[in-house]
Amino acid sequence: MNVVMVGAGYVGLVSGACFAEFGANVTCLDNNEARIDALQAGQIPIYEPGLEDLVLRNVNAGRLAFSTDLAEEVGKADLVFIAVGTPTRRGDGHADLQYVYGAAENIAQYLQGYTVVVNKSTVPVGTAREVSRIIRNSNPDVEFDVASNPEFLREGSAISDFMRPDRVVIGVESGQAESRLRELYRPLNLIEAPILITSLESAELIKYASNAFLATKISFINEMSQLCEKTGADVHAVAKGMGLDGRIGKKFLHAGPGYGGSCFPKDTQALVRMAQEHGVSSRIVEAVVEVNASQKARMVAKIREALGGSEAGKTIAVLGLTFKPETDDMRDAPALAILPALADKGAIIRAHDPQGMAEAKTLLPKSIQFVDNMESAVVGADAVVIMTEWNQYRGLDLEKIRGSMKGDVFVDLRNVYEPILMEEHGFKYTCVGRCPPPGAKT
Ligand SMILES: NC(=O)c1ccc[n+]([C@@H]2O[C@H](COP(=O)([O-])OP(=O)(O)OC[C@H]3O[C@@H](n4cnc5c(N)ncnc54)[C@H](O)[C@@H]3O)[C@@H](O)[C@H]2O)c1
Repeated sequence: MNVVMVGAGYVGLVSGACFAEFGANVTCLDNNEARIDALQAGQIPIYEPGLEDLVLRNVNAGRLAFSTDLAEEVGKADLVFIAVGTPTRRGDGHADLQYVYGAAENIAQYLQGYTVVVNKSTVPVGTAREVSRIIRNSNPDVEFDVASNPEFLREGSAISDFMRPDRVVIGVESGQAESRLRELYRPLNLIEAPILITSLESAELIKYASNAFLATKISFINEMSQLCEKTGADVHAVAKGMGLDGRIGKKFLHAGPGYGGSCFPKDTQALVRMAQEHGVSSRIVEAVVEVNASQKARMVAKIREALGGSEAGKTIAVLGLTFKPETDDMRDAPALAILPALADKGAIIRAHDPQGMAEAKTLLPKSIQFVDNMESAVVGADAVVIMTEWNQYRGLDLEKIRGSMKGDVFVDLRNVYEPILMEEHGFKYTCVGRCPPPGAKT
Protein backbone atom coordinates (compact mmCIF):
# COMPACT_ATOMS: atom_id res chain seq x y z
CA MET A 1 0.00 0.00 0.00
CA ASN A 2 1.27 3.44 -0.87
CA VAL A 3 0.14 6.03 1.63
CA VAL A 4 0.61 9.78 1.46
CA MET A 5 0.07 11.80 4.63
CA VAL A 6 -0.54 15.49 3.98
CA GLY A 7 0.54 17.32 7.14
CA ALA A 8 3.49 16.09 9.19
CA GLY A 9 2.44 17.50 12.57
CA TYR A 10 1.54 15.61 15.75
CA VAL A 11 -1.12 13.51 14.05
CA GLY A 12 0.36 13.18 10.55
CA LEU A 13 3.81 12.25 11.71
CA VAL A 14 2.68 9.74 14.31
CA SER A 15 0.04 8.17 12.03
CA GLY A 16 2.44 8.08 9.09
CA ALA A 17 5.18 6.43 11.13
CA CYS A 18 2.69 3.92 12.60
CA PHE A 19 1.27 3.01 9.16
CA ALA A 20 4.88 2.45 8.02
CA GLU A 21 5.39 0.22 11.05
CA PHE A 22 2.29 -1.74 9.90
CA GLY A 23 4.16 -2.32 6.60
CA ALA A 24 2.80 0.41 4.30
CA ASN A 25 5.04 2.65 2.19
CA VAL A 26 4.40 6.08 3.59
CA THR A 27 5.43 9.55 2.51
CA CYS A 28 4.66 12.42 4.86
CA LEU A 29 4.23 15.71 3.02
CA ASP A 30 4.23 19.14 4.56
CA ASN A 31 4.29 22.62 3.11
CA ASN A 32 6.54 23.70 5.97
CA GLU A 33 9.90 23.21 4.27
CA ALA A 34 11.93 23.62 7.45
CA ARG A 35 9.94 20.77 9.01
CA ILE A 36 10.56 18.47 6.07
CA ASP A 37 14.26 19.42 5.91
CA ALA A 38 14.58 18.54 9.60
CA LEU A 39 12.79 15.22 9.14
CA GLN A 40 14.94 14.35 6.14
CA ALA A 41 18.00 15.06 8.31
CA GLY A 42 16.69 12.65 10.96
CA GLN A 43 15.51 15.35 13.40
CA ILE A 44 12.06 15.06 14.92
CA PRO A 45 10.42 18.49 15.10
CA ILE A 46 8.04 17.64 17.97
CA TYR A 47 8.48 15.93 21.32
CA GLU A 48 6.53 12.70 21.53
CA PRO A 49 7.89 9.75 23.51
CA GLY A 50 9.12 6.91 21.28
CA LEU A 51 8.58 8.82 18.04
CA GLU A 52 12.22 9.29 17.15
CA ASP A 53 12.97 5.56 17.31
CA LEU A 54 9.83 4.69 15.37
CA VAL A 55 10.56 7.22 12.63
CA LEU A 56 14.24 6.32 12.25
CA ARG A 57 13.50 2.58 12.21
CA ASN A 58 10.97 2.96 9.41
CA VAL A 59 13.09 5.43 7.44
CA ASN A 60 15.99 2.96 7.60
CA ALA A 61 13.70 0.14 6.49
CA GLY A 62 12.76 2.23 3.43
CA ARG A 63 9.07 2.43 4.36
CA LEU A 64 8.92 6.06 5.50
CA ALA A 65 10.02 9.19 3.65
CA PHE A 66 9.41 12.94 3.83
CA SER A 67 8.84 15.37 1.02
CA THR A 68 7.34 18.69 -0.01
CA ASP A 69 6.70 17.42 -3.52
CA LEU A 70 3.00 16.65 -3.86
CA ALA A 71 3.16 16.16 -7.60
CA GLU A 72 5.67 13.35 -7.29
CA GLU A 73 4.00 11.47 -4.43
CA VAL A 74 0.22 11.89 -4.73
CA GLY A 75 -0.05 10.19 -8.13
CA LYS A 76 1.47 6.96 -6.73
CA ALA A 77 -0.76 6.82 -3.67
CA ASP A 78 -3.51 4.29 -2.91
CA LEU A 79 -4.62 6.44 0.00
CA VAL A 80 -4.02 10.14 0.64
CA PHE A 81 -4.64 11.24 4.23
CA ILE A 82 -5.33 14.86 5.11
CA ALA A 83 -3.91 15.50 8.60
CA VAL A 84 -3.55 19.26 8.64
CA GLY A 85 -4.56 21.61 11.45
CA THR A 86 -8.16 22.74 12.06
CA PRO A 87 -7.65 25.54 14.59
CA THR A 88 -10.37 27.84 15.84
CA ARG A 89 -11.29 30.39 13.20
CA ARG A 90 -10.39 33.85 14.43
CA GLY A 91 -13.40 35.74 15.71
CA ASP A 92 -16.20 33.20 15.59
CA GLY A 93 -15.17 29.89 17.17
CA HIS A 94 -15.82 27.79 14.05
CA ALA A 95 -13.24 25.24 12.96
CA ASP A 96 -11.00 26.94 10.41
CA LEU A 97 -11.09 24.67 7.40
CA GLN A 98 -8.77 26.65 5.16
CA TYR A 99 -5.90 24.15 5.58
CA VAL A 100 -8.12 21.14 4.89
CA TYR A 101 -9.65 22.71 1.80
CA GLY A 102 -6.23 24.01 0.74
CA ALA A 103 -4.80 20.48 1.00
CA ALA A 104 -7.76 19.12 -1.01
CA GLU A 105 -7.13 21.71 -3.76
CA ASN A 106 -3.43 20.92 -3.73
CA ILE A 107 -3.79 17.17 -4.11
CA ALA A 108 -6.74 17.15 -6.54
CA GLN A 109 -4.74 17.83 -9.68
CA TYR A 110 -2.16 15.11 -8.97
CA LEU A 111 -4.47 12.18 -8.17
CA GLN A 112 -4.06 9.30 -10.61
CA GLY A 113 -5.92 6.02 -10.73
CA TYR A 114 -8.49 5.14 -8.06
CA THR A 115 -7.44 6.83 -4.80
CA VAL A 116 -9.09 7.10 -1.43
CA VAL A 117 -8.75 10.58 0.09
CA VAL A 118 -9.13 10.30 3.85
CA ASN A 119 -9.84 13.14 6.29
CA LYS A 120 -7.90 12.46 9.46
CA SER A 121 -8.17 16.03 10.68
CA THR A 122 -10.99 16.79 13.12
CA VAL A 123 -13.59 18.47 10.94
CA PRO A 124 -17.24 19.53 11.23
CA VAL A 125 -19.96 17.42 9.71
CA GLY A 126 -20.16 18.01 5.98
CA THR A 127 -16.44 18.56 5.43
CA ALA A 128 -15.82 15.21 3.71
CA ARG A 129 -18.56 16.05 1.18
CA GLU A 130 -17.03 19.48 0.61
CA VAL A 131 -13.57 17.92 0.11
CA SER A 132 -15.14 15.58 -2.43
CA ARG A 133 -16.73 18.52 -4.23
CA ILE A 134 -13.43 20.44 -4.32
CA ILE A 135 -11.59 17.49 -5.84
CA ARG A 136 -14.35 16.77 -8.35
CA ASN A 137 -14.43 20.44 -9.46
CA SER A 138 -10.71 20.64 -9.87
CA ASN A 139 -10.20 17.25 -11.52
CA PRO A 140 -13.52 16.05 -13.02
CA ASP A 141 -12.18 12.80 -14.51
CA VAL A 142 -10.31 11.39 -11.56
CA GLU A 143 -11.57 8.23 -9.86
CA PHE A 144 -11.66 8.70 -6.09
CA ASP A 145 -13.64 8.35 -2.90
CA VAL A 146 -13.50 10.49 0.20
CA ALA A 147 -13.53 8.81 3.63
CA SER A 148 -13.51 10.13 7.16
CA ASN A 149 -11.13 8.50 9.65
CA PRO A 150 -10.87 10.75 12.71
CA GLU A 151 -7.92 10.27 14.99
CA PHE A 152 -8.19 9.65 18.73
CA LEU A 153 -4.53 9.51 19.79
CA ARG A 154 -3.42 11.54 22.79
CA GLU A 155 -0.20 13.49 22.78
CA GLY A 156 2.25 11.94 25.21
CA SER A 157 1.06 8.40 24.51
CA ALA A 158 0.33 8.85 20.82
CA ILE A 159 2.15 5.78 19.51
CA SER A 160 0.56 3.27 21.85
CA ASP A 161 -2.83 4.94 21.33
CA PHE A 162 -2.41 4.52 17.58
CA MET A 163 -1.08 0.98 17.80
CA ARG A 164 -3.64 -0.19 20.37
CA PRO A 165 -6.70 1.99 19.77
CA ASP A 166 -9.99 1.58 21.64
CA ARG A 167 -11.59 1.78 18.21
CA VAL A 168 -10.95 2.86 14.64
CA VAL A 169 -13.79 4.87 13.13
CA ILE A 170 -14.15 4.82 9.37
CA GLY A 171 -16.83 6.82 7.58
CA VAL A 172 -17.20 5.64 3.99
CA GLU A 173 -19.72 5.45 1.20
CA SER A 174 -18.19 2.83 -1.06
CA GLY A 175 -17.16 -0.78 -0.57
CA GLN A 176 -13.92 -0.13 -2.43
CA ALA A 177 -12.86 2.65 -0.05
CA GLU A 178 -13.91 0.55 2.95
CA SER A 179 -11.84 -2.44 1.89
CA ARG A 180 -8.79 -0.28 1.20
CA LEU A 181 -8.96 1.23 4.68
CA ARG A 182 -9.66 -2.14 6.29
CA GLU A 183 -6.58 -3.49 4.50
CA LEU A 184 -4.44 -0.64 5.82
CA TYR A 185 -5.62 -1.24 9.39
CA ARG A 186 -5.45 -5.05 9.05
CA PRO A 187 -2.51 -5.41 11.52
CA LEU A 188 -4.93 -4.23 14.23
CA ASN A 189 -7.07 -7.34 13.70
CA LEU A 190 -4.46 -9.26 15.67
CA ILE A 191 -5.34 -7.32 18.80
CA GLU A 192 -9.03 -7.31 17.87
CA ALA A 193 -9.28 -3.52 17.80
CA PRO A 194 -12.91 -2.70 16.94
CA ILE A 195 -13.33 -1.13 13.51
CA LEU A 196 -16.53 0.87 13.28
CA ILE A 197 -17.82 1.55 9.79
CA THR A 198 -20.24 4.47 9.59
CA SER A 199 -21.50 7.18 7.27
CA LEU A 200 -19.25 10.17 6.62
CA GLU A 201 -21.43 12.36 8.83
CA SER A 202 -21.44 9.98 11.78
CA ALA A 203 -17.67 9.53 11.68
CA GLU A 204 -17.18 13.30 11.70
CA LEU A 205 -19.56 13.78 14.62
CA ILE A 206 -18.19 10.84 16.65
CA LYS A 207 -14.90 12.71 17.02
CA TYR A 208 -16.49 15.94 18.27
CA ALA A 209 -18.97 14.13 20.50
CA SER A 210 -16.16 12.09 22.08
CA ASN A 211 -13.96 15.10 22.80
CA ALA A 212 -16.89 17.14 24.10
CA PHE A 213 -17.90 14.29 26.41
CA LEU A 214 -14.39 13.97 27.85
CA ALA A 215 -14.22 17.75 28.29
CA THR A 216 -17.58 17.52 30.09
CA LYS A 217 -16.13 15.07 32.60
CA ILE A 218 -13.25 17.45 33.28
CA SER A 219 -15.47 20.52 33.71
CA PHE A 220 -17.84 18.49 35.85
CA ILE A 221 -15.17 17.44 38.33
CA ASN A 222 -13.72 20.95 38.31
CA GLU A 223 -17.11 22.27 39.34
CA MET A 224 -17.33 19.59 42.03
CA SER A 225 -13.88 20.68 43.25
CA GLN A 226 -15.33 24.12 44.08
CA LEU A 227 -18.08 22.54 46.07
CA CYS A 228 -15.46 20.38 47.83
CA GLU A 229 -13.53 23.49 48.80
CA LYS A 230 -16.62 25.11 50.27
CA THR A 231 -17.89 22.05 52.09
CA GLY A 232 -14.67 20.39 53.21
CA ALA A 233 -15.12 17.32 50.98
CA ASP A 234 -12.04 15.94 49.23
CA VAL A 235 -12.30 15.86 45.44
CA HIS A 236 -9.95 12.85 45.27
CA ALA A 237 -12.35 10.83 47.38
CA VAL A 238 -15.35 12.13 45.45
CA ALA A 239 -13.76 11.28 42.07
CA LYS A 240 -12.77 7.84 43.33
CA GLY A 241 -16.21 7.16 44.69
CA MET A 242 -17.77 8.22 41.41
CA GLY A 243 -15.25 6.46 39.20
CA LEU A 244 -15.69 3.08 40.85
CA ASP A 245 -19.15 3.06 39.32
CA GLY A 246 -18.59 1.25 36.04
CA ARG A 247 -21.20 3.43 34.34
CA ILE A 248 -19.11 6.52 35.12
CA GLY A 249 -15.51 5.29 34.93
CA LYS A 250 -12.56 6.82 36.71
CA LYS A 251 -10.81 8.51 33.79
CA PHE A 252 -10.98 12.27 33.16
CA LEU A 253 -12.13 12.95 36.70
CA HIS A 254 -9.00 14.80 37.82
CA ALA A 255 -9.63 18.28 39.13
CA GLY A 256 -7.11 20.83 37.89
CA PRO A 257 -6.62 24.18 36.19
CA GLY A 258 -9.00 23.40 33.31
CA TYR A 259 -8.50 21.51 30.09
CA GLY A 260 -6.19 22.83 27.39
CA GLY A 261 -4.27 21.45 24.46
CA SER A 262 -4.70 21.30 20.74
CA CYS A 263 -8.08 19.57 20.78
CA PHE A 264 -10.60 20.04 23.61
CA PRO A 265 -10.75 23.86 23.61
CA LYS A 266 -11.18 24.21 19.86
CA ASP A 267 -13.35 21.12 19.41
CA THR A 268 -15.85 22.07 22.13
CA GLN A 269 -16.15 25.55 20.63
CA ALA A 270 -16.52 24.17 17.12
CA LEU A 271 -19.24 21.78 18.29
CA VAL A 272 -21.18 24.67 19.84
CA ARG A 273 -20.92 26.64 16.57
CA MET A 274 -21.91 23.59 14.51
CA ALA A 275 -25.01 23.10 16.67
CA GLN A 276 -25.92 26.80 16.32
CA GLU A 277 -25.53 26.59 12.57
CA HIS A 278 -27.95 23.69 12.49
CA GLY A 279 -30.39 25.45 14.80
CA VAL A 280 -30.10 23.00 17.69
CA SER A 281 -29.06 23.68 21.26
CA SER A 282 -25.83 22.43 22.82
CA ARG A 283 -26.34 23.86 26.28
CA ILE A 284 -24.23 21.21 27.99
CA VAL A 285 -21.17 21.83 25.83
CA GLU A 286 -21.68 25.60 26.10
CA ALA A 287 -21.59 25.25 29.89
CA VAL A 288 -18.49 23.05 29.66
CA VAL A 289 -16.68 25.80 27.75
CA GLU A 290 -17.77 28.45 30.27
CA VAL A 291 -16.83 26.36 33.28
CA ASN A 292 -13.40 25.74 31.77
CA ALA A 293 -12.75 29.45 31.26
CA SER A 294 -13.87 30.22 34.80
CA GLN A 295 -11.72 27.43 36.19
CA LYS A 296 -8.62 29.11 34.77
CA ALA A 297 -9.71 32.44 36.25
CA ARG A 298 -10.34 30.67 39.56
CA MET A 299 -6.74 29.41 39.52
CA VAL A 300 -5.47 32.99 39.23
CA ALA A 301 -7.61 33.95 42.23
CA LYS A 302 -6.37 30.89 44.13
CA ILE A 303 -2.73 31.85 43.62
CA ARG A 304 -3.47 35.46 44.55
CA GLU A 305 -5.24 34.43 47.73
CA ALA A 306 -2.42 32.05 48.67
CA LEU A 307 -0.05 34.99 48.34
CA GLY A 308 -2.09 36.98 50.84
CA GLY A 309 -4.33 38.85 48.42
CA SER A 310 -1.83 40.33 45.98
CA GLU A 311 0.81 38.95 43.65
CA ALA A 312 2.38 42.36 42.95
CA GLY A 313 6.14 42.20 43.47
CA LYS A 314 6.01 38.53 44.51
CA THR A 315 8.29 35.98 42.87
CA ILE A 316 6.44 32.91 41.66
CA ALA A 317 8.28 29.80 40.48
CA VAL A 318 6.07 28.03 37.94
CA LEU A 319 6.75 24.37 37.34
CA GLY A 320 5.31 23.15 34.06
CA LEU A 321 3.88 25.11 31.14
CA THR A 322 2.56 22.57 28.63
CA PHE A 323 -1.11 21.57 28.81
CA LYS A 324 -0.09 18.13 30.04
CA PRO A 325 3.13 16.20 30.63
CA GLU A 326 5.10 14.33 27.95
CA THR A 327 4.46 16.82 25.20
CA ASP A 328 5.97 20.11 24.03
CA ASP A 329 2.57 21.30 22.83
CA MET A 330 1.60 24.68 24.28
CA ARG A 331 -1.63 25.15 22.33
CA ASP A 332 -4.31 26.53 24.67
CA ALA A 333 -2.34 25.45 27.74
CA PRO A 334 -3.90 26.84 30.96
CA ALA A 335 -0.50 28.51 31.63
CA LEU A 336 -1.21 30.84 28.70
CA ALA A 337 -4.24 32.27 30.50
CA ILE A 338 -2.99 32.09 34.08
CA LEU A 339 0.55 33.48 33.81
CA PRO A 340 -0.25 36.66 31.84
CA ALA A 341 -3.01 37.47 34.36
CA LEU A 342 -0.49 37.20 37.22
CA ALA A 343 2.27 39.06 35.34
CA ASP A 344 -0.22 41.80 34.54
CA LYS A 345 -0.72 42.46 38.23
CA GLY A 346 3.01 42.70 38.85
CA ALA A 347 4.04 39.13 39.72
CA ILE A 348 7.65 38.24 38.92
CA ILE A 349 7.42 34.87 37.22
CA ARG A 350 10.18 32.34 36.74
CA ALA A 351 9.05 29.40 34.69
CA HIS A 352 10.42 25.95 33.95
CA ASP A 353 9.21 23.15 31.70
CA PRO A 354 11.10 20.07 30.50
CA GLN A 355 9.93 20.38 26.87
CA GLY A 356 7.65 23.37 26.36
CA MET A 357 9.87 26.39 27.01
CA ALA A 358 10.94 27.11 23.43
CA GLU A 359 7.32 27.39 22.34
CA ALA A 360 6.18 29.07 25.56
CA LYS A 361 8.71 31.87 25.08
CA THR A 362 6.97 32.86 21.86
CA LEU A 363 3.53 32.94 23.50
CA LEU A 364 3.99 34.41 26.98
CA PRO A 365 4.72 38.00 28.04
CA LYS A 366 8.35 39.12 27.72
CA SER A 367 8.52 39.82 31.45
CA ILE A 368 8.41 36.09 32.25
CA GLN A 369 11.82 34.54 32.88
CA PHE A 370 12.50 31.02 31.66
CA VAL A 371 15.04 28.95 33.53
CA ASP A 372 16.71 25.76 32.37
CA ASN A 373 16.79 24.07 35.72
CA MET A 374 13.93 24.04 38.11
CA GLU A 375 16.08 24.52 41.23
CA SER A 376 17.04 28.00 40.09
CA ALA A 377 13.38 28.85 39.55
CA VAL A 378 12.64 28.10 43.16
CA VAL A 379 15.56 29.89 44.88
CA GLY A 380 14.27 32.96 46.71
CA ALA A 381 10.70 32.49 45.44
CA ASP A 382 7.69 33.58 47.46
CA ALA A 383 5.60 30.81 45.96
CA VAL A 384 5.90 27.64 43.91
CA VAL A 385 3.08 26.74 41.53
CA ILE A 386 2.79 23.30 39.92
CA MET A 387 1.04 23.95 36.63
CA THR A 388 1.76 20.64 34.85
CA GLU A 389 2.35 17.29 36.53
CA TRP A 390 5.58 16.24 34.80
CA ASN A 391 7.16 13.23 36.52
CA GLN A 392 10.13 15.30 37.63
CA TYR A 393 7.82 17.49 39.72
CA ARG A 394 6.19 14.51 41.40
CA GLY A 395 9.16 13.64 43.55
CA LEU A 396 10.49 17.08 44.48
CA ASP A 397 13.02 17.37 47.30
CA LEU A 398 10.55 19.26 49.46
CA GLU A 399 13.01 19.95 52.24
CA LYS A 400 15.48 21.51 49.85
CA ILE A 401 12.83 23.54 48.09
CA ARG A 402 11.37 24.86 51.32
CA GLY A 403 14.89 25.79 52.44
CA SER A 404 15.76 27.68 49.26
CA MET A 405 12.49 29.64 49.01
CA LYS A 406 11.94 33.04 50.56
CA GLY A 407 8.27 32.37 51.21
CA ASP A 408 6.32 29.24 52.07
CA VAL A 409 3.43 29.22 49.58
CA PHE A 410 2.98 26.10 47.47
CA VAL A 411 0.08 26.03 45.00
CA ASP A 412 -0.45 22.61 43.46
CA LEU A 413 -2.87 22.99 40.56
CA ARG A 414 -2.57 19.27 39.70
CA ASN A 415 -3.09 17.82 43.18
CA VAL A 416 0.23 15.96 43.01
CA TYR A 417 1.00 16.18 46.73
CA GLU A 418 -0.80 15.23 49.92
CA PRO A 419 -1.88 18.30 51.92
CA ILE A 420 -0.74 16.80 55.22
CA LEU A 421 2.74 15.99 53.89
CA MET A 422 3.12 19.52 52.56
CA GLU A 423 2.08 21.06 55.85
CA GLU A 424 4.59 18.83 57.63
CA HIS A 425 7.27 20.28 55.37
CA GLY A 426 6.30 23.77 56.43
CA PHE A 427 4.46 24.87 53.31
CA LYS A 428 1.28 26.89 53.14
CA TYR A 429 -0.22 24.43 50.73
CA THR A 430 -3.15 25.07 48.38
CA CYS A 431 -4.50 22.64 45.83
CA VAL A 432 -7.73 22.05 43.89
CA GLY A 433 -10.73 20.74 45.77
CA ARG A 434 -8.74 19.17 48.59
CA CYS A 435 -7.97 21.90 51.03
CA PRO A 436 -10.79 22.27 53.50
CA PRO A 437 -11.12 25.75 54.94
CA PRO A 438 -10.19 26.01 58.60
CA GLY A 439 -12.88 24.58 60.78
CA ALA A 440 -14.48 22.54 58.01
CA LYS A 441 -15.35 18.94 58.77
CA THR A 442 -13.13 16.48 56.85
N1 LIG B 1 -2.67 16.83 18.25
C1 LIG B 1 -3.52 15.93 18.71
O1 LIG B 1 -3.38 15.42 19.83
C2 LIG B 1 -4.68 15.47 17.87
C3 LIG B 1 -5.37 14.30 18.21
C4 LIG B 1 -6.44 13.89 17.42
C5 LIG B 1 -6.83 14.66 16.33
N2 LIG B 1 -6.16 15.82 16.04
C6 LIG B 1 -6.58 16.57 14.86
O2 LIG B 1 -5.66 16.30 13.81
C7 LIG B 1 -5.49 17.47 13.00
C8 LIG B 1 -4.01 17.82 12.93
O3 LIG B 1 -3.58 18.19 14.22
P1 LIG B 1 -2.04 18.30 14.60
O4 LIG B 1 -1.99 18.48 16.06
O5 LIG B 1 -1.29 17.20 13.96
O6 LIG B 1 -1.68 19.68 13.86
P2 LIG B 1 -0.23 20.28 13.61
O7 LIG B 1 -0.42 21.75 13.56
O8 LIG B 1 0.75 19.68 14.55
O9 LIG B 1 0.17 19.76 12.14
C9 LIG B 1 -0.44 20.17 10.98
C10 LIG B 1 0.61 20.18 9.87
O10 LIG B 1 -0.03 20.37 8.62
C11 LIG B 1 0.80 21.16 7.81
N3 LIG B 1 0.00 21.72 6.70
C12 LIG B 1 -0.98 22.65 6.73
N4 LIG B 1 -1.50 22.85 5.50
C13 LIG B 1 -0.84 22.01 4.67
C14 LIG B 1 -0.92 21.73 3.27
N5 LIG B 1 -1.81 22.36 2.49
N6 LIG B 1 -0.08 20.83 2.75
C15 LIG B 1 0.81 20.19 3.53
N7 LIG B 1 0.94 20.39 4.84
C16 LIG B 1 0.12 21.30 5.42
C17 LIG B 1 1.38 22.18 8.75
O11 LIG B 1 2.56 22.77 8.25
C18 LIG B 1 1.63 21.32 10.00
O12 LIG B 1 2.94 20.78 10.02
C19 LIG B 1 -6.36 18.54 13.63
O13 LIG B 1 -7.60 18.57 12.97
C20 LIG B 1 -6.54 18.07 15.04
O14 LIG B 1 -7.73 18.54 15.63
C21 LIG B 1 -5.09 16.23 16.77
